[in-house]
Amino acid sequence: MGSFFSDNGDRNSLSSPPMKLRLVVCVLSLALSGVVSSLAADVMKGGPAKAAPLHKTFSLKTASFTLDFEVGDDGRLYQTPIGVTSADRKPQRIDEAYPQAGDGYIYEPAIQVVHADGNTSTALLFEGVTRTNEADGRELMRIQLRDPAYPFEVALCFRAQRDRDVVEQWTEICHQESGPVTLERMASASPAFSTNIFLTHFAGDWAKEMLSPITEQLTPGTKVLDSKIGMRAHQFGNPSFVLSLCGPPTENSGQVLAGSLAWSGSFALAFDHNGQRVRALCGVNPYASAYHLKPGETFVTPTMIWVWSGNGLGEMSRKFHAWARDFGIRDGHKTRSVLLNNWEATGFDFDFNRIVSLYDPAKEIGTELFLLDDGWFGNKYPRVNDHAGLGDWEPNRQRLPQGLAPLAAEANKHGLQFGIWIEPEMVNPKSELFDKHPDWVIRQPKRELELQRNQLTLDLTRPEVQTFEWQVISSTLGVPGISYAKWDCNRYLTQPGSSWLGPDRQSHLWIDYVHALYALMDKTAKAFPDTELMLCSGGGGRADYGALRYFHEFWPSDNTDPVARVAMQWDYSYFFPSMALAGHVTHWGKRPMHFACSVAMSARFGMDLDLVKLSAGDKAICAGAISAYKKIRDVTQLGDVYRLEPPHDAARGALNYVSPDRTRAVVFVFQLKDAEALPVHPQGLDPAKHYSVHELNPAPGRAALPQEGNALTGAELMQDGIVPCCAKAVEACVVELALTP
Ligand code: DGJ
Repeated sequence: MGSFFSDNGDRNSLSSPPMKLRLVVCVLSLALSGVVSSLAADVMKGGPAKAAPLHKTFSLKTASFTLDFEVGDDGRLYQTPIGVTSADRKPQRIDEAYPQAGDGYIYEPAIQVVHADGNTSTALLFEGVTRTNEADGRELMRIQLRDPAYPFEVALCFRAQRDRDVVEQWTEICHQESGPVTLERMASASPAFSTNIFLTHFAGDWAKEMLSPITEQLTPGTKVLDSKIGMRAHQFGNPSFVLSLCGPPTENSGQVLAGSLAWSGSFALAFDHNGQRVRALCGVNPYASAYHLKPGETFVTPTMIWVWSGNGLGEMSRKFHAWARDFGIRDGHKTRSVLLNNWEATGFDFDFNRIVSLYDPAKEIGTELFLLDDGWFGNKYPRVNDHAGLGDWEPNRQRLPQGLAPLAAEANKHGLQFGIWIEPEMVNPKSELFDKHPDWVIRQPKRELELQRNQLTLDLTRPEVQTFEWQVISSTLGVPGISYAKWDCNRYLTQPGSSWLGPDRQSHLWIDYVHALYALMDKTAKAFPDTELMLCSGGGGRADYGALRYFHEFWPSDNTDPVARVAMQWDYSYFFPSMALAGHVTHWGKRPMHFACSVAMSARFGMDLDLVKLSAGDKAICAGAISAYKKIRDVTQLGDVYRLEPPHDAARGALNYVSPDRTRAVVFVFQLKDAEALPVHPQGLDPAKHYSVHELNPAPGRAALPQEGNALTGAELMQDGIVPCCAKAVEACVVELALTP
């Protein structure tokens, strides 16, 4: 069987958005069109649509994961449920690979369509499967399905990385019907499982992102994790989860499958337990999002990233991180510099001299990059608080009379890179932009404007807004000396109305907004390839692989209390490598500086402190931490993570990173409650080799590490452990292990 499509190979990171509408001609084979029309005639006469029997089995395989498919005698495509052996079963409708609504399937469907003639049923029959070898050992498998009664096609696409046990999955839908087809539901992925499945997911809120991991056994009924906030995936729950077979997941054993949806809008992850199977339906949230697909257009769903491990969560995360460094984030093999942000130090209250006064101490303690946050713009309505000025992106003439360039130049003169905060999607009603273009905002007619943080969202589906936002981004990032930007987004959609989309396409807003956003992000990444980019969204609202492919890192949460960060960073680490998590030292929680620095050092290290006001003692601790971090950042940012002791409701948390060649490791112990200092057992070392033990940036006045300076074998270190020099709450210990010559 041939395939209707040839893959254009355009889904590499940065080369295209993860989801888009392709305005290409949907190629239906001429040979097929005869079949289609005669079958369509049958249907219209009331006859059933049946394909010629065609029995076939095939599999998607990675090193230790297999997904088996079977074409039934009825021509439909079935998938052997994960956790069920093929020998135990005969294909039945509950095992359809991509179940369709309206033609016999009675559970949660993967696809629900209203055809151009009003028919609300879809039947998909197997047409063919193709496999294409791609660069970097990846294989693209496309399974082509078609409706025998309509010129309507679905391609299930799987990009597998054999050695890594990673599969990227998405779906492409197109048709050549007489008018638009309405997509009511269109899952990216819909794998079926046996029923003995545990789900781990992460609830949250502002300042509590990823703070509540939940593991539960799935029981009959449909469990839905979703968001309906349009322009960011996360705030109340990340679009990532873990499914474990036969019991709750553990760190070093058991079969687990991580899933993460690469989508920065409303998402739905539904786990439908029908008594015999569990099906995971993952994709854009169908809520209020009916999509009218014109003939010849292709709807490409967002990508679902799957990572399989037969050895528990630790191996799963290491595989996920390796994939992320190669394909999920930008410059994933380049270490990040140490950043100083002025937000916690100055808030909106600064001018040229105040900012420049921070450069000397910034350089003195060893930071490498200065990030100027919110408050640098707005003239008629100066941005002196969050009530005004958003949208008016000219530097404020009183605060920065010469604009941004001299600030950046002065930073560069001090040997610091310079970064800038922007929030291009937003506008305050109190702004010149809103005065001029009140119709540019997303709002519902006849309803009172609902503000969040005193701001509204610009309607990015509108071409003038796209031009405006690009102009803001390109002129700001184009200022000489700027090499970093923090892209913020401090509200979400609550009144999803677009004056641009018109009455028939209001339901497109949720999806088209995210398309337009990705187009803008893509353009930014391409136009400024050397500018590092951070995603921020009222804290950690944009921690997803949809946006991350254009960015280097994300802001995990506005909550920078290091006690909270220990748990947050732990939970994010299931899916995201530490180099993608901005960890900044602040005074939140009023914790000891040594503890705050140690926690931030286990992520992408940064500071958000008023260095002018910092005590000499704290300054010395920060300087020591930065200098230590520079020596080990290649290990923490590029190495493999081993989570050792979970911090949730525990006396301490511990983890270690190991360099890819296993010559170096860094162990972090974070004491959360007073307790006896028991040994911590690192993992991932070479058992036969000797490693020297050295505590980095020891806390002033504390006894030295008992094993300081010893050379011990990896086996000894892993079995007997290292006794950390911390036993009291909010103490920490960071230990470097380096292969002895
Ligand atoms: C919210 C962010 O999370 C903060 O770090 C800061 O950038 C403010 N926005 C600025 O308005």
